[in-house]
Amino acid sequence: MAARRIYSLLSRVLSSPPASLSPLPTPGSCIYGKRISTRFSTSTTVEELIAPPVEITYTKNLINGHFVDAASGKTFPTYDPRSGEVIAHVAEGNAEDIDRAVSAARKAFDEGPWPKMTAYERSRIMLRFADLIEKHNDEIAALEAWDNGKTYEQAAMLEIPMLARLFRYYAGWADKIHGLTVPADGNYHVQTLHEPIGVAGQIIPWNFPLLMFAWKVGPALACGNTTVLKTAEQTPLSALYVGKLFHEAGLPPGVLNIVSGYGPTAGAALASHMDVDKVAFTGSTGTGKIVLELAARSNLKPVTLELGGKSPFIVCDDADIDKAVEFAHFALFFNQGQCCAAGSRTYVHESVYEEFVAKAKELAMRRVVGDPFKTGVEQGPQIDSEQFKRILKYIRSGIESNATLECGGERFGSKGYFIQPTVFSNVKDDMLIAQDEIFGPVQSILKFKDIDEVIRRANATRYGLTAGVFTKNIDTANTLTRALRAGTVWVNCFNVFDAAVPYGGYKMSGIGREKGIYSLTNYLEVKAVVTPLENPAWL
Ligand code: NAI
Ligand code: MG
Repeated sequence: MAARRIYSLLSRVLSSPPASLSPLPTPGSCIYGKRISTRFSTSTTVEELIAPPVEITYTKNLINGHFVDAASGKTFPTYDPRSGEVIAHVAEGNAEDIDRAVSAARKAFDEGPWPKMTAYERSRIMLRFADLIEKHNDEIAALEAWDNGKTYEQAAMLEIPMLARLFRYYAGWADKIHGLTVPADGNYHVQTLHEPIGVAGQIIPWNFPLLMFAWKVGPALACGNTTVLKTAEQTPLSALYVGKLFHEAGLPPGVLNIVSGYGPTAGAALASHMDVDKVAFTGSTGTGKIVLELAARSNLKPVTLELGGKSPFIVCDDADIDKAVEFAHFALFFNQGQCCAAGSRTYVHESVYEEFVAKAKELAMRRVVGDPFKTGVEQGPQIDSEQFKRILKYIRSGIESNATLECGGERFGSKGYFIQPTVFSNVKDDMLIAQDEIFGPVQSILKFKDIDEVIRRANATRYGLTAGVFTKNIDTANTLTRALRAGTVWVNCFNVFDAAVPYGGYKMSGIGREKGIYSLTNYLEVKAVVTPLENPAWL
């Protein structure tokens, strides 16, 4: 099902998929047949791994248009989550490298052509970059799948095409950003200029390395800023590859600098740098607090944060149950459950609860787990051993707190970081699995009686990122969409992430919005320009 949803989503996002890809599978094709025959078998699929169809070319930091070693000369390993084996050693950036990257970005902003270029020229470079992404779709997808563990199909057919779409979207904005003429009192001509902030510091996570790259770099560059991007230590490879492509597209040196490295060293140095004018972060709520504090303690740079979630997915008694089961599955299991948006509290009306749980279990049992490079595999490994252990701990906590384990609950296979698709029913709000972000393939199904009750319970969380609502009743939908305290409410759908749709969190899920028109304000200063009018008659 997940694959089918991805493809239908994809077909809405793209007018034409990249030519190198095979046609989209239709429901009922071999993928779905295969799914049934591989249920939870500890098959050899994860023992014999496919060699990814790409070579690692770029492992150094990208500073001022050049790939350079870390100042310390140190490297760190990045791992293949299918096996835990090292893929490559990557330059390990620390405060010194961040300083060099910020200097390059500063110079490119203060003296370089980027902010002075016409917006149309900036737009054309971004469009050429999008063309190169499309041209290299399959290699980029292979790097992304290899370093992250997501399926190659998901990367090649959904994420990399979305990456191109995002850069085209932002290229479209570049020459449409402008201020206002303001009718102020008195004899003045007043106008506002929308100017870039300067050097952006951007820190991204590992779950969608390139989509997070685009959500950050796209608006920053469209508005004329320069940037230093700190990638996640688990997934440094794909950003370096596309960074090279961006320079091939004509990006001037110093506009986009990419430093690989760890959070407390490179990340903290970026958030606290005195010459960085704005910081944007995606990751855990705990680290988001640190980033905000570092920004406040240094130069009070404005901060946008996109943090965790514990999103409710509400299935009303009048919902199309089969569709709701499929979407609830997709909402939780997509990307190995490693989504900030994940619908991780599935609230189901008591009158359809038993039916829903039985069908949700059946669907999870049919999910194909295996080598993400194999066709038809829907679920690859979790990102690393830390997340793998953390998820298994949450599963144990669910069992110990007397939730009913419907299926799964253990690792899959004997190597790498694979976890069986896991479903818990009879979950109560006060259980840890209903409160914390698990970030893994663990679905928790809760029961509710009426709408007021489910609104209260859905909102009783420190998070407020997304929500799903399944109902055929327009009044129920209107009530829920307005009552739920979340940055996105999907009605009878989920995970619709087009470039134009704003995204961000209420409460401890974040500060600010990314994507869409709202994302531009994060990267712009507004200057009021006031000029006296000599002839008031023409006011
Ligand atoms: P994290 O928030 O620690 O890491 C995200 C990014 O922040 C990485 O680039 C990391 O190097 C950087 N970072 C870490 N410490 C930093 C510091 N002191 N200063 C500046 N930057 C720093 O997340 P982590 O440890 O990878 O995952 C932990 C949990 O966070 C996950 O289990 C999940 O619940 C949540 N998470 C949420 C994501 C989201 O999309 N909102 C993405 C990744 C993780
Ligand atoms: Mg890796």
